Amino acid sequence: MDFKDIRPAAGVGRKIHIETYGCQMNVVDSETVVAIMQREGFVWTDNVREADVILLNTCSIRDNAEQRIRHRLDELSAMKRRRKGLVLGLIGCMAERLREQILEQHPAVDIIAGPDAYRSLPLLVGEVSEGGRGVNVELSKEETYAEISPVRLDANGVGAFVSIMRGCNNFCSYCVVPYTRGRERSRDPETILREVRELFDAGYREVTLLGQNVNSYNYELRTDDKPRDIEFTRMSEARRKKTKLITNYERGYAEKQANNCIDFPELLRRVAEISPLLRVRFATSHPKDMSDELLAVMASMPNICRAIHLPAQSGSSRVLERMNRKYTREWYLGRIAAIRRAMPDAAISTDLIAGFCGETPEEHAQTLSLMREVGFEFAFMFKYSERPDTAAARTMADDVPDEVKTARLNEIIALQNELSLASNRRDVGREFEILVEGFSKRSRDKVFGRTLQNKVVVIPRAKNHPGCEPCSQPPLHGRGTCPDHKPGDYVKVRITGCSSATLQGEEV
Ligand code: 5AD
Ligand code: SF4
Repeated sequence: MDFKDIRPAAGVGRKIHIETYGCQMNVVDSETVVAIMQREGFVWTDNVREADVILLNTCSIRDNAEQRIRHRLDELSAMKRRRKGLVLGLIGCMAERLREQILEQHPAVDIIAGPDAYRSLPLLVGEVSEGGRGVNVELSKEETYAEISPVRLDANGVGAFVSIMRGCNNFCSYCVVPYTRGRERSRDPETILREVRELFDAGYREVTLLGQNVNSYNYELRTDDKPRDIEFTRMSEARRKKTKLITNYERGYAEKQANNCIDFPELLRRVAEISPLLRVRFATSHPKDMSDELLAVMASMPNICRAIHLPAQSGSSRVLERMNRKYTREWYLGRIAAIRRAMPDAAISTDLIAGFCGETPEEHAQTLSLMREVGFEFAFMFKYSERPDTAAARTMADDVPDEVKTARLNEIIALQNELSLASNRRDVGREFEILVEGFSKRSRDKVFGRTLQNKVVVIPRAKNHPGCEPCSQPPLHGRGTCPDHKPGDYVKVRITGCSSATLQGEEV
């Protein structure tokens, strides 16, 4: 594989454009779809107006996500009336969940494809060309798109998402994901390592390993791949080759093989070993699976992020039980203590839901107290949104009035702003290494990058280089012919100031 496969191919062909909604998993899914379509002669365009095929990769996690997408679908339906031959498709979670309903209510939609049906998209487009509508919402127990390297659509070429597993088995009572994305399955580690190596060779310096619940990653080698001598004698040549490849991995890995599986700590270690210049992140972890072994692997490798996203959802054990989260407040705090023991410098972020079924003022107050106790660096915060057919929708009343949900969410947001600001203030005066991603949004004289803790730091665009006249004169700093920091550069910085969202710094 070479670089032109990693970036969209140029050339002539029917043009495809995808708009992506929702989580990071959808971002990498869209890139996988582009890879699939490119193989069939389609060409990516980032201009929706020149596309022959427009796909919306959708999200069902909350009602407002679905409403936004329906609105966009109306706009694109109007565009389709003006442009004969335009193919319009809905893919992803909302396609999986609403199928017939979308086909009935949005006659302009030609294609419906669920998250496990992307290999059939070229075929579905073909069905549309023949005058039909293409529909495939079958969920799979095996599909991981393992051998397909996504075509990267990001702007900077520094960071890429790598899917390591799909689906979810947790069935949190509020969550639609197990229904739209199906059961949990792990991707073949060989293909993950190969993809990451290709990214690194193409200049990428950060990968984020993705899954709904990455720390339950567990790739089971098939029983007939088991590297036992007795079986070697009976193995076909092809199978022996595969086994040899796997047995080539060293020590710890070999032990795991004896148990016939590769788990997340092991995978993470192997990915981080690809190069010390490659930063490795991952999301999302479930508190119940946050093992000491994983923390030990993280602590032992300086290129694994010092940032853990650990969704708490609520600070009340009673609410957590209704949510079917399978842990208590005390367990969660125990895991936080374990993280702090292993990595005192780790940043911890979370997801929180305000106003879940039956949430009392006391239970809400426990969420606020958990936030204070942990001192989260960052949080994604949501109002509970009932999703049809989930356990919560079937068995519990969505009985917290909307104004109360809003008021509670606002309290949570205000507290998080305080905590983020306090955390950032503690960083002022400290030194970090950042990986530069691009220009600052506010000024072309500045660039931004992230620390291992995933905090954004803005620094002057020009490199410090002693003896340079403009660099030594602060008002001129970064003008003239001074060399610039480029995306992909590592820069040592000292933090000089902050807001609740970003840090400002200078090169040291
Ligand atoms: N309502 C509100 N938030 C939800 N999430 C998942 N389902 C819902 C829902 N029905 C949030 C959780 C999860 C994040 C991805 O989205 O906090 O961690
Ligand atoms: Fe949804 Fe829970 Fe699975 Fe996350 S772990 S995707 S919240 S069911």
